[in-house]
Amino acid sequence: MMTEISLNVLDVAQNSIRAGASRIIIDIQVSHKEDRLKVIISDNGCGMTDSQLAHVDDPFYSTRTTRTIGLGIPFFKNGAEMTGGTFSIKSEAGKGTEVTAVFVLSHIDRMPLGDITSTMLSLITCNENIDFVYTYGVDNRSFTLDTREFRKILGDISYQEPDVYNYIKEYLQEHKDDLDQGKYI
Ligand SMILES: Nc1ncnc2c1ncn2[C@@H]1O[C@H](COP(=O)(O)OP(=O)(O)O)[C@@H](O)[C@H]1O
Ligand SMILES: [Mg+2]
Repeated sequence: MMTEISLNVLDVAQNSIRAGASRIIIDIQVSHKEDRLKVIISDNGCGMTDSQLAHVDDPFYSTRTTRTIGLGIPFFKNGAEMTGGTFSIKSEAGKGTEVTAVFVLSHIDRMPLGDITSTMLSLITCNENIDFVYTYGVDNRSFTLDTREFRKILGDISYQEPDVYNYIKEYLQEHKDDLDQGKYI
């Protein structure tokens, strides 16, 4: 069972990677006023046909041939809906996919956001050929990390270089802490 929203994000972003995306946008917005936590993950991967899309929240549906499980989407959907939130997927074959999960922030059964910094750090540094646009917002403030900006500065220096890796890690952590004061969300 997934215990953290950040692990759901990792799983859903891995679907995007498997779908051949070259750009993945991850947007996480926490609103105390609206009492919700909204996650949008969109990609420009292969997308799904209407008939694939119709099966996507079936726990046993998977186009994977190795370790067939197919629970990433159903867990995310269930996690959001059990809080009284909503879940939706838009997808177009050949264009891409957008997954939106809205959690009711104060609901007792809401999973914690968890270690989103580690999730983003591993997505970014393990997939250097993919552009990530990551936004984290709390109430009226947000920050965005666009790996294309890093790429411009770094040229072909690897994200796995310790100095670069640590820079990205600190960048993610410091901006997040600035927005949520390191609070457990
Ligand atoms: N972003 C996406 N782009 C294209 N197909 C997707 C995407 N996300 C999910 N799918 C399709 O939905 C199926 C189910 O996804 P998921 O529930 O995460 O299970 P799994 O990843 O284990 O197959 C995938 O196997 C894939 O066929
Ligand atoms: Mg999956």
